[in-house]
Amino acid sequence: MMGDNNIITKKVVCPHCKNEITTQGASGETIEILCPKCNTKGIFAFPKEEPVSKSTTDPVAIEVNNIEFTYPKSNKKAVNGVSFGINKGEIFGFLGPNGAGKTTTQKVIIGLLKGYGGNVSILGKDLQSWKTDLYNRIGVGFELPNHYQKLTALENLELFASFYRGKTIEPMKLLEMVELEKDANQRVATFSKGMKSKLNFARSLINDPEVWFLDEPTTGLDPVGRRLIKNIILEKRKEGKAIFLTTHNMLDADELCDRVGFIVDGKLKLIESPRELKIRHGKKIVKLEYLKDGDLIKQDFDLKNLADNKDFLDLLRSESVQTIHTAEATLDDIFIKATGRQLK
Ligand SMILES: Nc1ncnc2c1ncn2[C@@H]1O[C@H](COP(=O)(O)OP(=O)(O)O)[C@@H](O)[C@H]1O
Ligand SMILES: [Mg+2]
Repeated sequence: MMGDNNIITKKVVCPHCKNEITTQGASGETIEILCPKCNTKGIFAFPKEEPVSKSTTDPVAIEVNNIEFTYPKSNKKAVNGVSFGINKGEIFGFLGPNGAGKTTTQKVIIGLLKGYGGNVSILGKDLQSWKTDLYNRIGVGFELPNHYQKLTALENLELFASFYRGKTIEPMKLLEMVELEKDANQRVATFSKGMKSKLNFARSLINDPEVWFLDEPTTGLDPVGRRLIKNIILEKRKEGKAIFLTTHNMLDADELCDRVGFIVDGKLKLIESPRELKIRHGKKIVKLEYLKDGDLIKQDFDLKNLADNKDFLDLLRSESVQTIHTAEATLDDIFIKATGRQLK
């Protein structure tokens, strides 16, 4: 089932007294551990589930080398020397503010913009050597949905399915997947923004693509819709699809991506897994609220060497503590630190 996480058992060693502790959690989950021997608190992140790749051949799905693109009549490079690779069974997130060059990069890779510099290879073949059969193997969710407004949702998908030579997924199944089955026979013109967004997303899967491009797929959706779309994306990764996800939403990137690339002004500033980024750039803190003379005081402590922090220990012993929890830097904070720019 979608969204199901297997429970993993791990042995961790207490950093303070070296006691071995057995702990359980879901893949990708971060939990707090209390050492039963010395009472040291720690944070443990369970590894994200290993994606299962369908194919045992070349794991590389996309390789982009030093690409550049300038729009006609523009004097500025919209994409300026971008390089990265994506493996099958991997979600690669392209994270950056509006105008950074995310959509342009996606358009270059899928062959919509001619006259780019650098090299693009998809499924082991240079983009220039691909003919229209490339479009049977990739799926694209465009930033702005374009459907036939006068046709129903079902008719739209049936029409798009007819464009493909290979096997396609049953349109009604796709509508069920995005919970639009009840609206299947409604004209798209009557759809809300969120419904159009879901239909656009469903359409990008119609040929069951090996490489899947998604440009801001959660735009215009409510929290329930976002959750649904994100669960499908995670499910498709498990099937071994290579996923290129473009977003300016750091929460989505954090939750979904195996690796993220930070893009600003057409340039990739860094590529790293969200977890690594947080470990490397993010300081973990413990937030405490305690009562002093009837007032609620808030204080943050560095998680590092907390067991030796006298102020912290005194507070704990004084029994005036009301709440205690840990917090870590968000991708948003790290983005600003790494690029000097805000995401929004
Ligand atoms: N069709 C176009 N013609 C000229 N300039 C464009 C066009 N599309 C985008 N741009 C410019 O290229 C840059 C990158 O845009 P885009 O790739 O759409 O960014 P993002 O998807 O990250 O928001 C921006 O400066 C934008 O104004
Ligand atoms: Mg865009």
